[in-house]
Amino acid sequence: MQQLEALTREAIALAAKAPLEIEAARQMEICNACRYCEGFCAVFPAMTRRLSFDKVDIHYLANLCHNCGACLHACQYAPPHEFAVNVPRTMAQVRATTYEEFAWPPAFALAYRRNGLAISLATAAGIALFLAMVVAMRGSLSGAGLVGNFYAIFPHNLMVSMFGAVFAFALLALSMGASHFWRTQSQPYDSKLAKGSATEAIHDVLTLKYLDGGHGQGCNNADDSFTLWRRRFHHFTFYGFMLCFASTSVATLYHYLLNLHAPYALTSLPVLLGTAGGIGLLVGPAGLFVLNLRRHRMQMDTAQRPMDLGFIALLFLTSATGLLLLALRETAAMPLLLAVHLGVVLALFALLPYGKFAHAVYRAAALLKYAIEKRQPNRLQLGSD
Ligand code: HEM
Ligand code: SF4
Ligand code: SF4
Repeated sequence: MQQLEALTREAIALAAKAPLEIEAARQMEICNACRYCEGFCAVFPAMTRRLSFDKVDIHYLANLCHNCGACLHACQYAPPHEFAVNVPRTMAQVRATTYEEFAWPPAFALAYRRNGLAISLATAAGIALFLAMVVAMRGSLSGAGLVGNFYAIFPHNLMVSMFGAVFAFALLALSMGASHFWRTQSQPYDSKLAKGSATEAIHDVLTLKYLDGGHGQGCNNADDSFTLWRRRFHHFTFYGFMLCFASTSVATLYHYLLNLHAPYALTSLPVLLGTAGGIGLLVGPAGLFVLNLRRHRMQMDTAQRPMDLGFIALLFLTSATGLLLLALRETAAMPLLLAVHLGVVLALFALLPYGKFAHAVYRAAALLKYAIEKRQPNRLQLGSD
């Protein structure tokens, strides 16, 4: 036992100087011997399929981790124990390195470190100011008499090309990152056995299964008590975002297929979807903001807090300015509100691939890999699944 402790002390000293992936591998080796947390989430069953952990394994496990905190609060080897096991924080730190490693174009990798609350707000304010100046120069700063006709301020084709270009770039950057990550991760699988894995991964994404701590009572946030609020507020955010996206897509179909042009009636499908999504996107980010500020410091990588808060703030402002624009669309304030709303949305899309949103694509990829892998025979014959 003394020998094991001496070895561990030596390993900790080495790990302090080594890349994060080596520190994460050290902790996984301790967990693999302990296995107390096996039932908490997908990370531990995936871990038991391995005896050693290379960089690819660690990137996979880090993105599989949902930072629910259960394994930190339950761990007998967590600091101040000298083994210093802190899986949620270490995995959060590794996740940030995967975002940088797979960033596209690679030159933009460092944007993840800079993309905080100040940058998010400054980008939104800068674009909004620029658009407001354009409106002022064209002499359309007063919306009196325009009865919500946004295209009198910014022509439809201009808006489509502005948003289309930014959105297409964000989509391309995220897809390149995700496909590079997937190529490093994929292994030869028996495709017959993999049947049903995509459905399971989609289910795990849509229900955020692994924010339940493994027992359905929820995850940890401020302390060792369980809460379902993190999952609920994420659902408000996620589904709110999806509904807003659906609203824009339906409006595009109305415009091009049915030749029906905005402004749409309050009872129309685009407005109803946008209003419901907007409410979700107010409630969810507001709740996540409060929970983030209250989160146990040991459970998180505090260096990533500015990035989290920047993304949360842009989501909240997208919704707040959108709902305000809807409420005041027939008043003189409409052109200015439109410039502010478009500024926030453009900033959100432009920063999408280089901030917190990246977790969505890498986590979805890790969940898919887990769903495939668990259907394959366990070559070690040691795990529980
Ligand atoms: C594949 C889909 C997704 C999965 C599996 C997922 C999962 C998670 C998990 C587990 C967390 C908590 C841990 C952490 O902070 O890293 C989280 C945080 C967050 N997610 Fe997602 N997410 C997904 C998509 C989205 C989408 C589409 C949005 C919004 C557009 C979103 C917004 C957020 C926000 C704002 C946070 C930050 C919460 C905080 O820092 O307190 N997520 N997500
Ligand atoms: S986190 Fe701690 S308690 Fe859980 S498996 Fe690892 S070493 Fe064991
Ligand atoms: S923090 Fe939660 S999701 Fe992450 S490894 Fe620990 S128990 Fe699993």
